[in-house]
Amino acid sequence: MTILVTGGAGFIGANFVLDWLAGSDEPVVNLDKLTYAGNPETLASLQGDKRHIFVQGDIGDAALVTRLLAEHQPRAVLNFAAESHVDRSIHGPGDFIETNIMGTFRLLESVRGFWMGLADAPKADFRFLHVSTDEVYGSLSKDDPAFAETNRYEPNSPYSASKAASDHLVRAWHHTYGLPVLTTNCSNNYGPFHFPEKLIPLMIVNALAGKPLPVYGDGMQIRDWLYVKDHCSAIRTVLKGGRLGETYNVGGWNEKPNIEIVQTVCKLLDELRPKADGSSYASQITYVTDRPGHDRRYAIDARKLEKELGWKPAETFDTGIRKTVAWYLANPEWVAHVQSGAYRDWVQKQYAGDAQ
Ligand code: NAD
Ligand code: DAU
Repeated sequence: MTILVTGGAGFIGANFVLDWLAGSDEPVVNLDKLTYAGNPETLASLQGDKRHIFVQGDIGDAALVTRLLAEHQPRAVLNFAAESHVDRSIHGPGDFIETNIMGTFRLLESVRGFWMGLADAPKADFRFLHVSTDEVYGSLSKDDPAFAETNRYEPNSPYSASKAASDHLVRAWHHTYGLPVLTTNCSNNYGPFHFPEKLIPLMIVNALAGKPLPVYGDGMQIRDWLYVKDHCSAIRTVLKGGRLGETYNVGGWNEKPNIEIVQTVCKLLDELRPKADGSSYASQITYVTDRPGHDRRYAIDARKLEKELGWKPAETFDTGIRKTVAWYLANPEWVAHVQSGAYRDWVQKQYAGDAQ
């Protein structure tokens, strides 16, 4: 048996592949285009491991995907591949439409062709699991209940609109063609190998470099944080026991305003890597121009996954964030290598006008 993972050189996909092969000998075919966000170095510990077959390529390349499916006969395809950064989607939505919508469409078609040709037993057992986000539900007010699977889709950014569109395609391929699909909608992840364009790793990296910690607007936007390995365990749980055609919200009931996240990161760094002059990293916090259309609050109601499939996160926010900060302190080479020229260009563009 084999699974095919797309986007397995990115933050969550790579954590998923590493955890999968730590717990099972079932091989993984890992299809990743290696955009700026894909980093083969994250998978360095799998070098020479025959259970990991890495292929550089696009989910929208039907000939390639069809060949990989025919050659490896996977029992499941897990689609992590996406453009994932909201701020980038605001500067340039084209890649998001191309990969998240058109790429998912082409992948679904390739997978459907393969699945239709399977014999009865493997056809019945096959799964297409689509990894999606809580952002498709839009933004909550302070007192609204957390997002349930029954909430309307109300995406507000080019990124979330493209993910919403991909979720709808996946749903339609189930209802129209019978493709055995599962969808997960997860809240904000954090943990090892997180690209330092996103809030938590950016704050750690900037703090250590003595740079400003750019907090958008008033810093009171709320996100619901889940340690990445708990997201990976939720995906394994849904793959194993999820009901066909269903969507499962994934979250750890950890709502926090952004400014509190930044202050927590600063406190942990003060403890684990105190500054020579005795000042706190919090003195580097700088309020900057807000994100256009910035969603105010996300919160995930994960009761369906907990009750139906018995999933529970292993980490609290306190244990997860401590592990995360410690990981970045222990892995400066990984950080240095992802801070390529392309990364520096992005930082320049995004924070132009704000002191860096
Ligand atoms: P990421 O940006 O770190 O990684 C995305 C990976 O996909 C990269 O390795 C990239 O090279 C690859 N990729 C991009 N376009 C591709 C294409 N056309 N073909 C093949 N590979 C391609 O993203 P992430 O944070 O790991 O997110 C993974 C998935 O989880 C995404 O679908 C995202 O929407 C979803 N998600 C992310 C979060 C989060 O907090 N990061 C939360 C919920 C859901
Ligand atoms: O909710 C799930 C989503 O979480 C995923 O679908 C996305 O792929 C993922 O990128 C993430 O989106 P966010 O926009 O919530 O994550 P980001 O880390 O970019 O920002 C988190 C919050 O921090 C958000 O309110 C914006 C704010 N922020 C972010 C950056 C990069 C700042 O205040 N300053 C910053 O410099």
